[in-house]
Amino acid sequence: MKNIVLTGFMASGKTTIGKELATITGRKLVDTDVMIEQEMGMTTNEIFENFGEEYFRDLETVACHAAAEECGVIISTGGGAVMREINREVLKKTGVVFNLEMNEALIKERMTEAKATRPLMSDEIDKVIERFNSRKEFYDDCDYKIPVYDGQTPTDYAAEILKKYTLSLITKG
Ligand code: S3P
Repeated sequence: MKNIVLTGFMASGKTTIGKELATITGRKLVDTDVMIEQEMGMTTNEIFENFGEEYFRDLETVACHAAAEECGVIISTGGGAVMREINREVLKKTGVVFNLEMNEALIKERMTEAKATRPLMSDEIDKVIERFNSRKEFYDDCDYKIPVYDGQTPTDYAAEILKKYTLSLITKG
């Protein structure tokens, strides 16, 4: 049984929607950021501070590969996981990939709250938007795009994702 993989920029709601999907389906939730933090016994902020971004990205690649070995789970990825092709490929191999598609206005709106736990959200707004735009092609490399906008509940997103997931299993196996 294929995994359900959530990708998307920071603060797109991957963790919240992942939890909702896990609750509805009874499936396990695997969060690559949580895997990394548990492995290191440090927060993401601390890992970035002490070892730098490239080190974090290597841990992320290991976490994506370990997550992709699971069967029939919900995988919530970190916002930058899609940047490496080997991560996208391994996640696609055993899962149906859903990108929670953000837009600039929503990123700006959610930035203040998102800063606390995310080192790359502490940059100036222009830099954050630039980062988002530079990643677009990687976010687009997914099976389904799920546009994110205010007013939708986690249950709404989960229902949309599950419908598309089931359809994908029927049509693509
Ligand atoms: C990152 C996103 C974060 C986390 C790290 C780097 C990114 O995850 O992996 O701070 O580069 O976009 P969330 O997308 O869950 O915030």
